[in-house]
Amino acid sequence: MSPSPPLLLLLCAVGATAAAVPRYREAPHFTNSAAAQCPPPLPPSNADAACSPHAAVHVAMTLDASYLRGTMAAVLSVLRHASCPESIYFHFIASATATKATAEELRATVRASFPSLAFRVYPFADEARVAGLISTSIRGALDRPLNYARSYLASTLPPCVRRVVYLDSDIVLTDDIASLAATPLPGEETAVAAPEYCGANFTAYFTPGFWASPALSSTFAGRRACYFNTGVMVLDLARWRRAGYTAQIEEWMELQKRVRIYELGSLPPFLLVFAGRIASVDHRWNQHGLGGDNYRGLCRGLHAGAVSLLHWSGKGKPWDRLDAGRPCPLDAVWAKYDLLRPAAGIESS
Ligand SMILES: *[C@@H]1O[C@H](CO)[C@@H](O)[C@H](O)[C@H]1NC(C)=O
Repeated sequence: MSPSPPLLLLLCAVGATAAAVPRYREAPHFTNSAAAQCPPPLPPSNADAACSPHAAVHVAMTLDASYLRGTMAAVLSVLRHASCPESIYFHFIASATATKATAEELRATVRASFPSLAFRVYPFADEARVAGLISTSIRGALDRPLNYARSYLASTLPPCVRRVVYLDSDIVLTDDIASLAATPLPGEETAVAAPEYCGANFTAYFTPGFWASPALSSTFAGRRACYFNTGVMVLDLARWRRAGYTAQIEEWMELQKRVRIYELGSLPPFLLVFAGRIASVDHRWNQHGLGGDNYRGLCRGLHAGAVSLLHWSGKGKPWDRLDAGRPCPLDAVWAKYDLLRPAAGIESS
């Protein structure tokens, strides 16, 4: 006897919940350019390779089910435009509270689309600790503990990794990441490099109460503090560890739990510790705000100047707008790297 229609529906529903992660297509393989004097290619998925002197660039990103599609596109864009794609090591931080099956599924998804990628997935060991420190912000998505993983890279990645490029999941590169990774970090204490925006209204990132308190606002005394976006940063983890910057960030988060000093998520503590103390990066490396604002996700255009990296920061994500059939004009750039759709012109270089 064949199953009756209701039973068939039930079977389909069960099948759908089991396949939580959609099937991504395999990315083209990108090889080291003969002209670029690259080191020998890294072995795929070998934890020891993280400490290999042949790892020319280290990249850190988060990995979770809700932003997976963004992460996959970002990785493809990094490889596509790198002169030494086989010498890049990816460090993915995944939620430690995700089930083993979910973590394995995420790892397997990356492996299936990038069979020769050198990467490792780390559970976010400080997740429970940071969850206790998070205060509610203006946008729920900013309050995920994994959003704070960038503050814990120094303790999450092995001590052999000194310099790392941290990337949000809602970005695509259109240029060689080696140029970004080579940003000079002058001085013995500079641990962060990022594009600075001194024209942005820095006052607006903190509450009137913060500015009214000399004890608090004097933290910026003597610093030329400018806004920077924490979605694209070059970090010197050796200096970070030495200076104990994670503890400094946590101190501000603890204060925020008692006195409201800002409204956004992981960004303000970074500004409190680092604004005015970072190495500058050309604005081309973070054309941010393409997701619109934190409330409505309007379409935004590029800022003036060159473009090496597009960043859909803000509420609107290109994959959501494409799926909804209401993409913004620049979402077409992101769509070229979307591994959930058929190949659209991103072939091996
Ligand atoms: C900067 O932001 C603060 C706080 O939101 C506001 O009071 C001030 O008028 C703004 N300044 C400028 C120049 O827009």
